[in-house]
Amino acid sequence: MAKVKTTFFCQNCGQESPKWLGRCPSCNEWNTFVEEVVAKDTKSVVAFSKSDSRTAKSVNLKDIQQKEEARILLSDNEMNRVLGGGLVPGSLVLFGGEPGIGKSTLLLQIAVQSSKQKILYVSGEESESQIKMRAERIGIQHENCFILTETNVQNIFKQIEEIEPDLLIVDSIQTVYSSYIESSPGSISQIRECTAELLRFAKETETPVFLIGHITKEGVLAGPKVLEHMVDCVLQFEGDRNHVYRLLRSIKNRFGSTNELGIYEMLGNGLRQVENPSEILISGNKESLSGVAIAATLEGLRPILIEVQALVSTAAYGTPQRSSTGFDLKRLNMLLAVLEKRCGFKLAAKDVFINIAGGIKVDDPAIDLAVVCAVLSSNADISINNNVCLAAEVGLSGEIRPVNRIDQRISEAEKLGYEKIIVSRFNKGIEQKNFGIEIIQVSKIEEVFKDLFA
Ligand code: TYD
Ligand code: MG
Repeated sequence: MAKVKTTFFCQNCGQESPKWLGRCPSCNEWNTFVEEVVAKDTKSVVAFSKSDSRTAKSVNLKDIQQKEEARILLSDNEMNRVLGGGLVPGSLVLFGGEPGIGKSTLLLQIAVQSSKQKILYVSGEESESQIKMRAERIGIQHENCFILTETNVQNIFKQIEEIEPDLLIVDSIQTVYSSYIESSPGSISQIRECTAELLRFAKETETPVFLIGHITKEGVLAGPKVLEHMVDCVLQFEGDRNHVYRLLRSIKNRFGSTNELGIYEMLGNGLRQVENPSEILISGNKESLSGVAIAATLEGLRPILIEVQALVSTAAYGTPQRSSTGFDLKRLNMLLAVLEKRCGFKLAAKDVFINIAGGIKVDDPAIDLAVVCAVLSSNADISINNNVCLAAEVGLSGEIRPVNRIDQRISEAEKLGYEKIIVSRFNKGIEQKNFGIEIIQVSKIEEVFKDLFA
């Protein structure tokens, strides 16, 4: 009988070691090494290999024939965009997100709504009838979606040979296991092996594969970093579970930019693609309310208008509270200090609450000015006209700083019917004649107040 071979793996980063270590030399985490059984069988490498005998030869770069880049267009435009214009044949895409965020829903939706491609959806998490129930909720169904509830990779490959799908979806990589490795599903060596086998399958058959991956409490993809290195694209699905909006981001993309963003709304019948995000993020109050300012921000490459809401009230207790949802609290404290020190507003004894409507998180400095204006508007209880929007960063000395892609922001504001946008004077090259919206350029906070509150 072959001797059982075990190796220790760091559960955090996938570092391998022949003996147990208290601290991982690679990621410096303590107590992360776990012993896993790995078969010594080298056969594991030949699962799904047709071309093992071929030896690769080097080729001159100029002699390589470039194939027409055929992209597979999915039924979902937001997904196509985030992937950089469709799915590349033979690519392996890792799709991560917190539990319950809607990963299975989105991919099942893509599978059942696909009219052109034959899709095999493999689930190790739900039964066939549960999937059926979910598919019923989603609605429109075509005949090209096959469901398989299986967790053994080799069995999955057998089914693939029978069905010959154009796209494979595996939900989730943590539940599948390979017979060549003895450790339990979800362990580092299993995840690594299964991904390697699926990768080989994808590359050799030119079939794209989606892997759903769980995210740990710390917000990293469960499983080692190596997983991210092996795949072609890493997509992340995020959003606040209490809100209906979900953002699809690309963290790594070998075939396109990682700046694209997809936006969905979770409804009772699945996820709806949101083509014009600004409309849903702005409450659309007809009357102007105090404490509300509109900022022209960018999510990736996509300009979005968001509503910043502020509430300033006299602190009931000794220490004033500062709280913020969707905006960095440290940055809020800094902006309040600037208002206090440079502009003479007495906010030290006030509670300040900031909220970005719609439950999204923004870390674009271009919303600084909107935050400042919302705070002052609430403090003075004077509303800002609801046809004005803002796009500028605020510096430590109260100066209004320029922001990137200002043209895009201005165009978006114009498109949504705003009449006036306030930007920094130091943003060079803005031509008023190119836009139908009034552009006001300022260099100091005081000028903004004169314009807004006078
Ligand atoms: P799910 O796709 O199971 O999440 P994940 O696979 O990321 O763990 O999504 C589950 C949530 O989505 C659940 O809380 C219910 C909600 N949901 C809807 O609101 N509408 C729907 O049509 C469906 C199918 C799910
Ligand atoms: Mg799921």
